[in-house]
Amino acid sequence: MASSNKPEKPIHILFVGAGAVGCFYASRLHHVGTEHPLLSLKPRSNYKAIADAGNVQLQTHSFGNYAFAPYAVFPNIDAAVPSASSSSPTAAAAATPPSEGWDYIIVTTKALPDRTDDTATIAPLVSAKSCLVLIQNGVGVEEPYRKRFPHNPIVSAVTVISAEQIRHGVIRQNRWTRISLGPYGHGLSTTTPSSDDQVTRLSDERMRSLAQWWTELGGIRDVESHTELELQTIRWHKLCINAAFNPTAVLSGGRGNADQLTDAELRIHVLGIMNEIRDAAPLVLGAPFPDTLASPEKIVKSTERNTGGRPSMLLDWEAGRPMEIEVILGNPVRIARARGVEMPRLQSLYALLGSMQRMREERGKGKL
Ligand SMILES: NC(=O)c1ccc[n+]([C@@H]2O[C@H](COP(=O)([O-])OP(=O)(O)OC[C@H]3O[C@@H](n4cnc5c(N)ncnc54)[C@H](OP(=O)(O)O)[C@@H]3O)[C@@H](O)[C@H]2O)c1
Repeated sequence: MASSNKPEKPIHILFVGAGAVGCFYASRLHHVGTEHPLLSLKPRSNYKAIADAGNVQLQTHSFGNYAFAPYAVFPNIDAAVPSASSSSPTAAAAATPPSEGWDYIIVTTKALPDRTDDTATIAPLVSAKSCLVLIQNGVGVEEPYRKRFPHNPIVSAVTVISAEQIRHGVIRQNRWTRISLGPYGHGLSTTTPSSDDQVTRLSDERMRSLAQWWTELGGIRDVESHTELELQTIRWHKLCINAAFNPTAVLSGGRGNADQLTDAELRIHVLGIMNEIRDAAPLVLGAPFPDTLASPEKIVKSTERNTGGRPSMLLDWEAGRPMEIEVILGNPVRIARARGVEMPRLQSLYALLGSMQRMREERGKGKL
């Protein structure tokens, strides 16, 4: 294990959102001993289960089964706010936030900007030294964080993993571990030269530490560090999968990804969405899509082999939970439109799915 990046003081990392992705990636940063990052969790509905057990159970395809005992578990945001009076936490007084502030705040909630402003939720936790890390699907997720926290380093992360919380405090990772990281400066739309700006450089530095810990402490073999443009390109590329299969799963009456491809018209529709994103992304990003990223045909081929998978948006719809419509459909449509590019296939999905969700909620309130 390399020691080149060993900090002198303990590094305190807080995960806000202790679901499938949060618990898996927290557990792969966790090592007992003060020289390593100390991992704390801010769960929500699963708080009691995790706090009572004192750990999260992981059932993983990649690392076997194990228990991850977080350094501290907080019942609410207020309890996790660092204050001058809080003593330096020890394992015995585990629910005390670090008096010097959080080094990293990693947001692994579902990205639902139409429901909650997570930037406001975490605001009391953020100090000048805090690096914000967003491990969430979709595009445009970083913008509200940059607006509220103009000087904090931000790391944007895209993960290719299949994981779920099978019951409170028990996480199953079915396959894949890949996490792609990139600094987030001021967004690619501004005139500030991103790679040459202080907040971008700081974000890049913090990203490299995180990548090293996940690789060396966590044993994740496919942790990737990127430039801001590369990471945004990866976000738009991942959209080819999420914006094609997820909404279609709901609108087609509950069909999984591979199943959608057995229907001739749905197959044309899925490929049409992927090609629309591939055509729009270079105009949005100002750079071509690299050939190294899988083509729509390749994505379709590998999806066909992965039978039985049901996308998270379908699971959310069936459970009556809000879906990540804004970051997967609304943001790309708006971001592209602001650059004079229309995405009619995505726009149709956005309009229909958004309306379905609103109508169901109205019915639930007895208004219809
Ligand atoms: N799971 C995957 O395989 C996968 C793969 C790639 C990308 N992603 C993306 O990763 C992100 C996280 O997904 P996930 O699957 O980990 O979702 P998840 O299992 O539903 O976990 C999200 C967690 O965040 C909690 N939460 C929401 N708002 C919160 C708040 N204000 N304070 C504290 N906790 C809060 C939720 O609590 P409640 O239970 O109380 O709602 C839940 O425990 C999403 O953007 C998703 O699209 C997931």
